[in-house]
Parts: sequence; C-alpha cells; structure tokens
Amino acid sequence: MGFTFSTLHIDNELELRLLDESDAEPLFRLVDENRKHLREWLPWLDHNTRVEDTMQFLHSCRVQYDNQICFNASIRHNGAIAGVIGFHPIDWQNRSAMIGYWIAKQYEGKGMMTRACSALTTYAFKNLSLNRVDIRCATGNARSCAIPKRLGFRFEGTLRQAEWLYDHFVDLHVYSMLAKDWSGT
Ligand SMILES: CC(C)(COP(=O)(O)OP(=O)(O)OC[C@H]1O[C@@H](n2cnc3c(N)ncnc32)[C@H](O)[C@@H]1OP(=O)(O)O)[C@@H](O)C(=O)NCCC(=O)NCCS
Repeated sequence: MGFTFSTLHIDNELELRLLDESDAEPLFRLVDENRKHLREWLPWLDHNTRVEDTMQFLHSCRVQYDNQICFNASIRHNGAIAGVIGFHPIDWQNRSAMIGYWIAKQYEGKGMMTRACSALTTYAFKNLSLNRVDIRCATGNARSCAIPKRLGFRFEGTLRQAEWLYDHFVDLHVYSMLAKDWSGT
C-alpha cells in the first residue's frame, strides 16, 4: 500500500496541508501561544519548548510519512495554521487508522475540527481504502469526545490508564467508524 498527500480542500475557508519543515516557525509560535490550552490534554508540550523541537517533530513527520506509517497535516484557516490533524499511525495490514488532533484556542467552537475529522475520515475510506478509523480521547476531555460522537462514531469502550499525562494517567474513550457505516456527515 502507498499514498501521497499534499492538500485536502474542505471548504471556502478550510484546508489540510501536509506539514513540512517550512512550517516550523508559525507552528512553534502557535504552540507557544497555546501552551496552557494544549497542555491540559496533550502529553508533549514540555518536550516542545524551542523552535528546534518543532523542527525535529516536523523532520520525524517527514520520515514517518515517507515510510507511510503516519501523517500530519496543518489545518489551515484562510491560509493560516490553526491546528494539526493526522493519522497516527496507519495500520495497513488491518486497514485501520487512528486520528489525532488539536486546534488553537482562538479557533475553538467553530466546528473546524469536526469538519476536518469528517474530511479525513472520508479520505481514509475513499482514497486510502481503509476499513476502520478510530479516535481516542481522555474520558475527561468532553470537547474532544464530542467530535467523534457528533460524527456518528460508535463508542467502543474505555482503555484504563492508557496515557501518561505529565504526572498522572488518564483513561481513554475509544470511538470508531467503519467504512460500511460512513455516510460522510
Ligand atoms: C478538542 C478540540 C480539538 C475541540 O475543538 P472545538 O473547536 O471545540 O471542536 P469543533 O471544531 O468540533 O467545534 C465544536 C463546536 O463548534 C460548534 N459548531 C459551530 N459550527 C459547527 C459546524 N458547522 N459543525 C459542527 N460544530 C459546529 C459546535 O456547536 C460546538 O460548539 P460547543 O463546543 O459550544 O458545543 C480542541 O478543544 C483542542 O484542540 N483541545 C486541546 C487539545 C486536545 O484536547 N486534543 C484532542 C486530544 S484527544
């Protein structure tokens, strides 16, 4: 299996664009401005404190994309980076992928992440011929859990203490969509 991704147009204001090293400065700035917001639920903020760390992340994204293991795209709102979404990882053997995402505080509540997840799920089924997409969210992260629920993903269960978040474990809710059930909402 193999795929190439560059840009996925969603609507008049939104598109997903494959991240590369040229995004290091604006991406780091966005992360830095949103450190407190993102740190509540994402485990990597303390390892990303300099633009060089973002560059390193982007480099590893490129290697993983070249090896077709993962991919990360910027969510662009009228051209500006608003957040990141991707498949991490893609399990080609089982035709399954997990979606991960974040968006900057100032873009929350506009349905942008719902639209981005919907577009990426359609892309997974139509372009990559995957069979299953899942989204895992900390049980306390209600905003995030609302996204797969809103898109009709099925709640499958809870992985106990599945993620270490700086100083404590969190449980993760698992939501999935199968190709046969996706109506492309
Ligand atoms: C989780 C996160 C991505 C959710 O972002 P969000 O902006 O709230 O999500 P959406 O883009 O789907 O927005 C949903 C809201 O937009 C509203 N909305 C507006 N237009 C909409 C549309 N066309 N479609 C869907 N929702 C729409 C919804 O009513 C909803 O509002 P509500 O929160 O008041 O109920 C964001 O809070 C975040 O990045 N948090 C930090 C990192 C994180 O938790 N990542 C996920 C780890 S699993």
